[in-house]
Amino acid sequence: MNYKELILQIDKSKMPKHIAIIMDGNGRWAELHNTKRINGHKKGVETVRRIVETSVEIGLEYLTVYAFSTENWKRAKPEVNYLLKLIIDSLVKEIDELIKNNVSVRFLGRKENLSKNYNKKVIETCKRSWNNTGLHLNAAMNYGGRQELTDAFNDIFAEMKSGKISENEINEEIINSHLYTANMPDPDLIIRTSGEERLSNFLIWQSAYSEFWFTQTLWPDFSREEFIRAILDFQKRKRRYGAR
Ligand code: IPE
Ligand code: IPE
Ligand code: MG
Repeated sequence: MNYKELILQIDKSKMPKHIAIIMDGNGRWAELHNTKRINGHKKGVETVRRIVETSVEIGLEYLTVYAFSTENWKRAKPEVNYLLKLIIDSLVKEIDELIKNNVSVRFLGRKENLSKNYNKKVIETCKRSWNNTGLHLNAAMNYGGRQELTDAFNDIFAEMKSGKISENEINEEIINSHLYTANMPDPDLIIRTSGEERLSNFLIWQSAYSEFWFTQTLWPDFSREEFIRAILDFQKRKRRYGAR
């Protein structure tokens, strides 16, 4: 089936609200093509573009892509620096097109470790899209699930100390509202490319009842057709949430 035919198979009444993607395999793609790792990342940005376009086309509400984890700082400095620059440059380059497509963009993650200038540029650029009502695009940047929870607990503790919330008040809703994903639905579907089958510290709280979809395809090769196939597979699943 070609792309258009695949899209027609989508059951609009069973659309996932939120899809999250662990974009993995850029380095292996580069190795396979006898080129430097950074060229794999560069190629990976083209895939992001393609998948965002497709998400807009099918009317997806939330798309979260894992761009840089809190653990990715362990990589060689030149690669880290290249990734940081690539991510901000891509945002700046694509923002007009994103705005035109009614997309609103947010970065989810820790501000610390990123320079003041970097954070400023991110906010300034993203802000321009915040009146949009179409796809909510999140880039998980300097993101770690455990760090997100730690930050949430610290915020809650501070609010408890100041009396904004009382001691016995902590519940799931309060925790949710202190995460970077506050006010967003949990991911219905989490896709990971490159054959790895793990979360790598991605949305660990929010994924409690997510459906997972894994593929051997390396991120730079991930096609819009395969993305739609993941959604079609998702639509065949029966979600039980513990009920029978
Ligand atoms: C994913 O590709 C991109 C980021 C983690 C930023 P990798 O760079 O992890 O690629 P592999 O896993 O080494 O192939
Ligand atoms: C997860 O990929 C992080 C991103 C996609 C940004 P990694 O390649 O860093 O994960 P591990 O190290 O294989 O678990
Ligand atoms: Mg990897």
